[in-house]
Amino acid sequence: MIKPNDHIAAMASYALADLTAPGGKTLISLAQNESAVPPSPRAIAAAQDTLASSRLYPDPDWTELCQAIAQVHALPPQQILCGAGSMELIGCLVRCYCGPDNRVLSSEYGYAFFRTAALAVGAAYDAAAESDFTLSVDALLSVVRPETRIVFVANPGNPTGTRVARSEILRLRGGLPDKILLVIDEAYGEFADRPGEATFDLVGAGNTVVLRTLSKAYGLAGSRVGWGLFPPAVAAEVRKVLNPNNISVASQAAATAALQDQDYMRAVCSKTAAQRDSFAAHMRALDLTVPASFTNFLLIAFADSSAALRADHFLRSEGILMRSMAGYGLANCLRATIGSEADMELAANQLTLWHTKEKLQ
Ligand SMILES: Cc1ncc(COP(=O)(O)O)c(C=O)c1O
Repeated sequence: MIKPNDHIAAMASYALADLTAPGGKTLISLAQNESAVPPSPRAIAAAQDTLASSRLYPDPDWTELCQAIAQVHALPPQQILCGAGSMELIGCLVRCYCGPDNRVLSSEYGYAFFRTAALAVGAAYDAAAESDFTLSVDALLSVVRPETRIVFVANPGNPTGTRVARSEILRLRGGLPDKILLVIDEAYGEFADRPGEATFDLVGAGNTVVLRTLSKAYGLAGSRVGWGLFPPAVAAEVRKVLNPNNISVASQAAATAALQDQDYMRAVCSKTAAQRDSFAAHMRALDLTVPASFTNFLLIAFADSSAALRADHFLRSEGILMRSMAGYGLANCLRATIGSEADMELAANQLTLWHTKEKLQ
């Protein structure tokens, strides 16, 4: 029988969310950091309008989409590349710059796909300790080795939801050798955008990439559209390994229209943030630890891993699915995506009930 490459055979499959719940219950998924609301009606209409022309391949240069991104963020469109989700861009970057002799570095609770992408090319993966569920620039710099080629930081982080200031990202870049590529993954950037905190200008020096996605604030996870701002020389390499027709006609149209409806996206972010903060306050009132989140989800830390497991079972029995964080070394935590108002009210009520039952035992 044909044998896989050794480094692939040694890998575990990417851990996806467990979306199973007992039969008869309405399933409430708070497990995948998807948007609680549909994309902008303008995005839906734009995608529908393209279906008749779907016999043609999509625009391989994502021309209108790049123009829309460039306009929103005041960026040069020629330095933007789009991927079938930002995951595709993460995978391509690693394929371009890393192999069995290299190392990829991220932080302790770094987004799990950074590791998967590294192992898939036979590279080693290092994780630098975080402090208070927040990435530590000093720890990252202390783990850099001569073989390190790429440093990935998700800011805000997933699954922690925390962020570091632009000044910390500047300090990280300043402390890294020039030949190391820094990839700043801002998948949740729209929830965290603040005046004076953007990092796109770092790309100008030639050794930093900034990634974003339409999967979160724009509610287009199912359309698979991510993008990044790349130094021209890095973009030229990544283009060689990107699937040339990676984003469908409908997805390009939906993403372009979604970007052109900034008011809608901003309203979604504000509402999500308000619901998130009120859910966090509710959880803290139950004596649970919840780091301040700058995203559309919360990390909820229980007393220990068995309490988290019991809470997960209890919620699942009611059809409410949060994400176990055991795979991140955070077995005492569940991650809760912010869903609709009704879903969050139900989740808060069920966790209160669980908490009361626990105290009685
Ligand atoms: C930090 C981070 N980066 C990247 C992604 C991948 O997003 P996309 O849907 O654009 O592939 C996610 C998805 O959850 C994420 O949390």
